Amino acid sequence: YTEKQDTNRKYHDIVEDALEYFNERIFSNEGREALEYLSKRQFKPDFIRENNIGFAPRGWNNLSDHLLNKGHDIRDIITVGLAKDGEKGHYDTFRNRVIFPIHSPSGNVIAFGGRTLEDKKEIPKYINSPESPIFHKGRNLYGMKERGSVIRRKAYSILMEGYMDVLSAHSFGFDVAVASLGTAFTDDQAKLLKRYTSNVIIAFDMDNAGRFAAEKTGIVLKAHGFNIRVLELKNAKDPDEFLKKYGKQEFLKHVKGSKEIFDYLYEFYVKEYDLSNLMAKQNFINRFKEFFQNVETDLEKSLYIDKLSKS
Ligand code: CTP
Ligand code: MN
Ligand code: MN
Ligand code: MN
Ligand code: MN
Repeated sequence: YTEKQDTNRKYHDIVEDALEYFNERIFSNEGREALEYLSKRQFKPDFIRENNIGFAPRGWNNLSDHLLNKGHDIRDIITVGLAKDGEKGHYDTFRNRVIFPIHSPSGNVIAFGGRTLEDKKEIPKYINSPESPIFHKGRNLYGMKERGSVIRRKAYSILMEGYMDVLSAHSFGFDVAVASLGTAFTDDQAKLLKRYTSNVIIAFDMDNAGRFAAEKTGIVLKAHGFNIRVLELKNAKDPDEFLKKYGKQEFLKHVKGSKEIFDYLYEFYVKEYDLSNLMAKQNFINRFKEFFQNVETDLEKSLYIDKLSKS
């Protein structure tokens, strides 16, 4: 029992109390709008309960007052990111938002993601708990605690961008989905995933940001020896939207049709060059440099180079 665990205990207590509060609020009167919103997105009350989805009500001090009444210190509440210091005193970080708890791989709730119910430009759609003594974004994956054992059993994982994607996937039976929490995928996240499986399918959003992130994430995963495939969805912007429009079987077809990372990058990069031009062809091959640096065996590298030289 170390001193560090001892000081972190109080932070864990705060986020646990906050989760309990959020979970209660969504099924109270105040939570009606949130339940309606989630119902429109096809999440049923049982599913909401099972996945510990919550609600942070409107108002500036609901949660912080609740936590203060439970005997927590405002400085500690601020440290875990649930309140902020303002000119007129402290105020709640999460207000009028659907709350998604984020767990550590060992099973503790350590942070939250919150989606606004108001679709206004001046309000960020999502906010997440900041880094804190108990939450290091780059070392966690959303859903890993809940999905870890299934991922190990089924021997693969699907990596998505968002909370909604992971939850939707789960509700359609794809219970091996996790998400990278809206940041650049890190080496620590790769190591965490590697504890469960070496096979990963990247299923990011179908916009430029998503494609760019898929490229970068694929390259990070390659350095950790994963078998990587990339899934591309037609006529939908992300897995959540796709599943709701086209259903499970269509998604499964896309999973089966996902491309090996090299083939994906090939198609991604080839669009940038005119291969009838020798210089352009050289540049095209150089475009794979970062990826090749992460390929472990010479055999694999030579197979790829062979493919490239034939292009
Ligand atoms: N994200 C974030 N902060 C933002 C926007 C996004 O942290 N301002 C993260 C969230 O984890 C979010 C993910 O990036 O789930 C993907 O973002 P986006 O595609 O914009 O959101 P969706 O998950 O598709 O949200 P929704 O379907 O609810 O609109
Ligand atoms: Mn801890
Ligand atoms: Mn997106
Ligand atoms: Mn979405
Ligand atoms: Mn999205």
